Amino acid sequence: MKRSDLEVLIDQQSVAARIAELGAEISRDYADKDLALLGILKGSFIFLSDLARALTVECTIDFLGLSSYGHSTTSSGVVQITSDLSAPIEGRDVLIVEDIIDTGLTMRYLLENLTTRKPRSLKVCTLLHKPARTKVEVAIDYTGFTIEDKFVIGYGLDYEDRFRNIPFIGHKVS
Ligand code: IMP
Ligand code: MG
Repeated sequence: MKRSDLEVLIDQQSVAARIAELGAEISRDYADKDLALLGILKGSFIFLSDLARALTVECTIDFLGLSSYGHSTTSSGVVQITSDLSAPIEGRDVLIVEDIIDTGLTMRYLLENLTTRKPRSLKVCTLLHKPARTKVEVAIDYTGFTIEDKFVIGYGLDYEDRFRNIPFIGHKVS
Protein backbone atom coordinates (compact mmCIF):
# COMPACT_ATOMS: atom_id res chain seq x y z
CA MET A 1 0.00 0.00 0.00
CA LYS A 2 1.34 3.42 -0.98
CA ARG A 3 0.05 6.86 -0.17
CA SER A 4 -0.81 7.32 -3.83
CA ASP A 5 -3.20 4.33 -3.59
CA LEU A 6 -5.47 6.48 -1.42
CA GLU A 7 -8.52 8.32 -2.65
CA VAL A 8 -10.10 11.07 -0.56
CA LEU A 9 -13.36 10.01 1.11
CA ILE A 10 -13.72 12.97 3.50
CA ASP A 11 -11.47 15.97 2.97
CA GLN A 12 -9.74 18.03 5.65
CA GLN A 13 -12.15 20.97 5.48
CA SER A 14 -15.18 18.71 5.93
CA VAL A 15 -13.57 16.98 8.91
CA ALA A 16 -12.70 20.33 10.51
CA ALA A 17 -16.21 21.70 9.97
CA ARG A 18 -17.85 18.64 11.50
CA ILE A 19 -15.51 18.69 14.51
CA ALA A 20 -16.40 22.35 15.12
CA GLU A 21 -20.08 21.31 15.24
CA LEU A 22 -19.39 18.37 17.55
CA GLY A 23 -17.32 20.61 19.81
CA ALA A 24 -20.15 23.12 20.12
CA GLU A 25 -22.69 20.38 20.85
CA ILE A 26 -20.50 18.68 23.47
CA SER A 27 -19.69 22.05 25.07
CA ARG A 28 -23.43 22.73 25.48
CA ASP A 29 -24.13 19.25 26.87
CA TYR A 30 -21.24 19.32 29.36
CA ALA A 31 -21.58 22.94 30.53
CA ASP A 32 -22.30 21.94 34.14
CA LYS A 33 -20.48 18.62 34.19
CA ASP A 34 -17.05 17.31 35.10
CA LEU A 35 -15.86 16.22 31.65
CA ALA A 36 -13.16 13.59 31.36
CA LEU A 37 -12.17 13.02 27.72
CA LEU A 38 -10.84 9.57 27.21
CA GLY A 39 -9.08 8.91 23.92
CA ILE A 40 -8.58 5.39 22.67
CA LEU A 41 -5.06 4.88 21.32
CA LYS A 42 -3.79 4.81 18.88
CA GLY A 43 -6.49 5.67 16.36
CA SER A 44 -8.14 8.60 18.16
CA PHE A 45 -5.08 10.75 18.82
CA ILE A 46 -5.63 13.19 15.97
CA PHE A 47 -9.41 13.39 16.37
CA LEU A 48 -9.07 13.93 20.11
CA SER A 49 -6.56 16.72 19.72
CA ASP A 50 -8.80 18.58 17.27
CA LEU A 51 -12.01 17.90 19.23
CA ALA A 52 -10.46 19.03 22.53
CA ARG A 53 -9.54 22.37 20.95
CA ALA A 54 -13.11 22.80 19.68
CA LEU A 55 -14.47 22.62 23.25
CA THR A 56 -15.21 25.68 25.33
CA VAL A 57 -15.69 23.69 28.56
CA GLU A 58 -13.00 22.55 30.98
CA CYS A 59 -11.94 18.95 30.73
CA THR A 60 -9.24 16.51 31.63
CA ILE A 61 -7.65 14.37 28.92
CA ASP A 62 -6.50 10.81 29.37
CA PHE A 63 -5.76 7.89 27.09
CA LEU A 64 -6.40 4.20 27.08
CA GLY A 65 -4.23 2.08 24.84
CA LEU A 66 -6.03 -0.83 23.23
CA SER A 67 -5.06 -3.28 20.61
CA SER A 68 -6.93 -6.06 18.95
CA TYR A 69 -4.83 -9.16 18.60
CA GLY A 70 -3.13 -9.64 15.26
CA HIS A 71 -2.64 -7.40 12.29
CA SER A 72 -5.82 -8.14 10.41
CA THR A 73 -8.03 -5.35 9.13
CA THR A 74 -11.08 -6.81 10.84
CA SER A 75 -11.75 -6.80 14.56
CA SER A 76 -11.53 -10.08 16.45
CA GLY A 77 -13.34 -8.68 19.47
CA VAL A 78 -10.44 -9.86 21.60
CA VAL A 79 -9.10 -6.64 23.02
CA GLN A 80 -6.01 -6.06 25.11
CA ILE A 81 -5.35 -2.99 27.28
CA THR A 82 -1.79 -1.99 26.37
CA SER A 83 -1.77 1.18 28.47
CA ASP A 84 -4.25 2.00 31.21
CA LEU A 85 -5.70 5.35 32.31
CA SER A 86 -3.45 7.50 34.46
CA ALA A 87 -6.22 8.59 36.86
CA PRO A 88 -9.46 7.18 38.28
CA ILE A 89 -12.73 8.10 36.56
CA GLU A 90 -15.02 7.40 39.51
CA GLY A 91 -17.65 10.14 39.75
CA ARG A 92 -16.52 11.81 36.51
CA ASP A 93 -18.51 12.50 33.34
CA VAL A 94 -16.56 10.36 30.92
CA LEU A 95 -16.69 10.82 27.17
CA ILE A 96 -14.95 8.08 25.20
CA VAL A 97 -13.36 9.44 22.01
CA GLU A 98 -12.89 6.79 19.34
CA ASP A 99 -11.77 6.90 15.72
CA ILE A 100 -14.27 4.43 14.29
CA ILE A 101 -16.97 2.02 15.39
CA ASP A 102 -17.02 -0.89 13.02
CA THR A 103 -18.37 -4.16 14.45
CA GLY A 104 -18.92 -2.52 17.86
CA LEU A 105 -16.98 -5.28 19.63
CA THR A 106 -14.22 -2.97 20.87
CA MET A 107 -16.71 -0.43 22.20
CA ARG A 108 -18.78 -3.08 23.95
CA TYR A 109 -15.67 -4.32 25.73
CA LEU A 110 -14.71 -0.76 26.69
CA LEU A 111 -18.15 0.17 28.01
CA GLU A 112 -18.21 -2.95 30.18
CA ASN A 113 -14.70 -2.32 31.47
CA LEU A 114 -15.22 1.39 32.21
CA THR A 115 -18.63 0.91 33.85
CA THR A 116 -16.95 -1.13 36.61
CA ARG A 117 -14.91 1.98 37.46
CA LYS A 118 -18.10 3.85 38.42
CA PRO A 119 -18.06 7.05 36.34
CA ARG A 120 -21.02 9.39 36.98
CA SER A 121 -21.87 9.24 33.29
CA LEU A 122 -20.35 7.42 30.34
CA LYS A 123 -20.91 8.47 26.74
CA VAL A 124 -19.40 7.70 23.36
CA CYS A 125 -18.13 10.05 20.66
CA THR A 126 -16.85 8.50 17.44
CA LEU A 127 -15.51 10.23 14.38
CA LEU A 128 -16.75 7.48 12.06
CA HIS A 129 -19.43 4.81 12.17
CA LYS A 130 -19.83 1.92 9.74
CA PRO A 131 -23.33 0.62 10.48
CA ALA A 132 -23.19 -2.03 7.73
CA ARG A 133 -20.69 -4.02 9.80
CA THR A 134 -22.43 -3.93 13.17
CA LYS A 135 -22.16 -7.15 15.16
CA VAL A 136 -23.18 -5.72 18.51
CA GLU A 137 -25.30 -2.60 18.95
CA VAL A 138 -23.77 0.07 21.14
CA ALA A 139 -25.36 3.42 21.89
CA ILE A 140 -23.36 6.17 20.20
CA ASP A 141 -23.99 9.65 21.59
CA TYR A 142 -21.98 11.72 19.08
CA THR A 143 -21.07 10.63 15.54
CA GLY A 144 -18.90 12.61 13.14
CA PHE A 145 -19.74 10.78 9.92
CA THR A 146 -21.64 7.65 9.03
CA ILE A 147 -19.77 5.89 6.23
CA GLU A 148 -20.31 2.94 3.95
CA ASP A 149 -18.46 -0.32 4.31
CA LYS A 150 -15.01 0.73 3.13
CA PHE A 151 -11.69 0.30 4.91
CA VAL A 152 -10.63 3.84 5.68
CA ILE A 153 -7.18 5.20 6.35
CA GLY A 154 -5.76 8.50 7.60
CA TYR A 155 -6.61 11.10 10.24
CA GLY A 156 -5.44 8.63 12.90
CA LEU A 157 -6.68 5.46 11.24
CA ASP A 158 -4.01 3.03 10.16
CA TYR A 159 -3.23 0.40 7.61
CA GLU A 160 -0.82 -2.00 9.34
CA ASP A 161 0.08 0.79 11.77
CA ARG A 162 1.04 3.20 8.99
CA PHE A 163 -0.60 6.22 7.34
CA ARG A 164 -2.15 7.56 10.56
CA ASN A 165 -0.65 10.95 9.70
CA ILE A 166 -2.51 11.35 6.42
CA PRO A 167 -4.47 14.58 7.00
CA PHE A 168 -7.73 13.45 5.38
CA ILE A 169 -9.89 10.34 5.54
CA GLY A 170 -9.12 8.19 2.56
CA HIS A 171 -9.75 4.73 1.26
CA LYS A 172 -7.67 2.40 -0.83
CA VAL A 173 -8.35 2.22 -4.53
CA SER A 174 -7.41 -1.18 -5.86
P1 IMP B 1 -14.64 -2.78 16.03
O1 IMP B 1 -14.28 -3.48 17.31
O2 IMP B 1 -14.90 -3.75 14.93
O3 IMP B 1 -15.77 -1.77 16.18
O4 IMP B 1 -13.36 -2.05 15.52
C1 IMP B 1 -12.85 -0.94 16.08
C2 IMP B 1 -11.40 -0.77 15.71
O5 IMP B 1 -11.01 -1.46 14.50
C3 IMP B 1 -11.16 0.68 15.46
O6 IMP B 1 -10.85 1.36 16.64
C4 IMP B 1 -10.01 0.64 14.48
O7 IMP B 1 -8.79 0.56 15.18
C5 IMP B 1 -10.20 -0.64 13.69
N1 IMP B 1 -10.88 -0.36 12.43
C6 IMP B 1 -12.14 -0.69 12.08
N2 IMP B 1 -12.44 -0.30 10.85
C7 IMP B 1 -11.35 0.35 10.39
C8 IMP B 1 -11.05 1.02 9.15
O8 IMP B 1 -11.85 1.13 8.20
N3 IMP B 1 -9.82 1.56 9.06
C9 IMP B 1 -8.89 1.49 10.06
N4 IMP B 1 -9.13 0.88 11.23
C10 IMP B 1 -10.35 0.31 11.39
MG1 MG C 1 -8.94 2.13 17.15
